[in-house]
Amino acid sequence: IHIPVITIDGPTASGKGTVAHRVAKHLGFHYLDSGALYRLTALSAKRKGVDLEDEEQLALLASFLPCRFSRGHVLLDDEDVTDLVRAEEVGVAASKIAVLPALREALVNLQVSFRQLPGLVADGRDMGTVIFPDATQKIYLTASVEARAQRRYKQLIEKGFSANMEDLVKDLTERDARDSARATAPLKPAPGAYILDTSDMSVELAVQTVLDLYAKSA
Ligand code: C5P
Repeated sequence: IHIPVITIDGPTASGKGTVAHRVAKHLGFHYLDSGALYRLTALSAKRKGVDLEDEEQLALLASFLPCRFSRGHVLLDDEDVTDLVRAEEVGVAASKIAVLPALREALVNLQVSFRQLPGLVADGRDMGTVIFPDATQKIYLTASVEARAQRRYKQLIEKGFSANMEDLVKDLTERDARDSARATAPLKPAPGAYILDTSDMSVELAVQTVLDLYAKSA
């Protein structure tokens, strides 16, 4: 049987997570936050003292990642790390290790296993290009670097982290460059992806647009 998948790829803080989560909820689909897997691997590496350039050890960590996802919470070794994995420094570490091909390969099966009935919404950088090339509907969600920095700023402050706009713009620009320039699974719109620029768009409208596109494609 064919299990429908909606892929939502795009740069850091483009609103993918929020949109993907809401679309999944609306359709009653499962949700894969693939970035969380890279973040969990980075966090796990930090705790185990594994060097962020040690590809072999990182791949090993990733293939036996003791993580669970339940009702919007992320657990690592049974500890609730939902907020911790969202920290900016963990995101930066995640984007550094995400350039390593063996690590990416080690996460493929785990990501594919999220494809279950009645369907899946997957967000990340390479969902439509590498992990689910046969997706039902592919979206490339983007927004200007300023709009994204502003959103990330709000998110971080709301979560009780400290944040600085200038640093955020710099971080985002660097991370975009790293994600787009890497040789393995670089960030780019998948063939056939619908490009949705949300710089001046409400979350509600972005969600509705994705739902409409899916309704037409399904
Ligand atoms: O999406 P999020 O910011 O949580 O992802 C953290 C980092 O993990 C990204 O900056 C990116 O480098 C990497 N990532 C990736 N491929 C994915 C998801 C995330 O390379 N599918």
